Amino acid sequence: MRRQVIPAIGLCAGTLVAAFGVSTAQAEPPADWSTIDAKTVTLFYPGQSSYQWLRSNEHKRADRKTAEGDSCVSCHEGEEQELGEVMVSGDRLEPHPIDGKQATIDLAVQAAHDDENLYLRVQWKTLNDFPGTAHPHWRFDGNEWKVIGWPRLHSKVWDEGQPAIYEDRFSIMVDDGSVPMFAEQGCWLTCHNGMRDMPELAETDAVRAHPLLGDALGKKDVRKYLPSTRNDDESIWDDTKTEEEIAEIKAMSGFVDLMQWRAHRSNPVGMADDGYVLEYRLTDAGKNVFGTNWDKEANQPKYMFDEAKVGFKSRTMDEIRDFSQPSSLIAEENAVAFDPDAGWAEGDMIPEYFVTRASAEGSAADNSAATGTWEDGMWTVLFTRKLDTGHPEDDKIMEVGGVYDFNFAVHDDNITTRGHHVSFPLTLGIGTDADITAVTQ
Ligand code: HEC
Repeated sequence: MRRQVIPAIGLCAGTLVAAFGVSTAQAEPPADWSTIDAKTVTLFYPGQSSYQWLRSNEHKRADRKTAEGDSCVSCHEGEEQELGEVMVSGDRLEPHPIDGKQATIDLAVQAAHDDENLYLRVQWKTLNDFPGTAHPHWRFDGNEWKVIGWPRLHSKVWDEGQPAIYEDRFSIMVDDGSVPMFAEQGCWLTCHNGMRDMPELAETDAVRAHPLLGDALGKKDVRKYLPSTRNDDESIWDDTKTEEEIAEIKAMSGFVDLMQWRAHRSNPVGMADDGYVLEYRLTDAGKNVFGTNWDKEANQPKYMFDEAKVGFKSRTMDEIRDFSQPSSLIAEENAVAFDPDAGWAEGDMIPEYFVTRASAEGSAADNSAATGTWEDGMWTVLFTRKLDTGHPEDDKIMEVGGVYDFNFAVHDDNITTRGHHVSFPLTLGIGTDADITAVTQ
């Protein structure tokens, strides 16, 4: 596994800071985490508990209070295990229960900060006795390259028996009090009917034909959005406000910051992605840490592995979980341009996405120090986030002494969309008391 990438701090900067008497501490994660208390946050499986369901009379006696903005924990404090059990069982809100799915995952969270950064160290146990570093691939069928591997909630897996292959993820949502009700109801504000794997799935053609989501954003499915970007109380996916109205909300910081550490698509280059939720789940301005490994014009992958560097051009199904070999295509490190005449055989596989630290840039590349290692059944992720990224247009800017609203999620065992485990919203204080306190370095 890669070492954590630590930004080099010049002697000069250190001297300057010392001269002004602010702090002589270097912007580095704590050398010894064992002295920092770990808070256990219980993440639970949320099934299809959408914004619309929570406000329907199926959410017995709670629909009105929820619509009024009462917090989830005002009624459900300490109920994570019970809620998770009901939903993984398939009794409620889960049309496709998964055998062996855990009701909850314990996330151990430690936090520290200095003048520049917030440092989070999180740990959780995976269901499998191997890390979820594999992701869908292109597979050569003797004639053409077709996708193989799907997230476990996909009908190809539960209906057609195709293999479940998807990366593990650790996600953070942050708000600074700008988004109404986020402190009380957290990520449930972003989760709606019509989204992938949710009830009343929006038809691809309807999304493509939608003036905002289709024409303006070029999307073909519905992903997370905030109720503030829709017109009516129901916050139906297609009832969007105008682009001008949404731009105004964004300018007032009315979005939620969403950062995702990904075991296949960001960890191999020591990063996490950086996005936000407003009218859709969007990537911050600039260039993302991963991209689709597909050349549309040539109808073939863009890259293959560099055999001279890693000893192979492609993998096979038996090899994608061989952890002695790299599992991701890193554009600047182990990839070369795809060669259609390289003598491909049926069953050869190449990752569906490539990863790149060298080409990631702008606000989308802010999370440049997020590194996970998997050992003895447990991920340990060390996540460094600049308090002030310099990009207030799509990030939440934090300050020492401030308290922020956080939500955590883990995607475990080859799954995406709602198949994660999530926390109720909690507060994180930068050097000040909160549910989680980032201790001052
Ligand atoms: C006013 C109290 C109240 C509030 C606020 C509230 N709930 Fe509930 N919730 C309930 C009650 C009561 C039930 C029904 C339990 C039952 O039917 O046995 C329930 C059921 C659920 C269930 C279904 C599981 C089950 O056992 O039926 C989920 C999931 C859930 N709530 C999530 C949430 C979330 C998420 C929030 C915050 C956005 C929230 N609730 C806010 C009271 C509340």
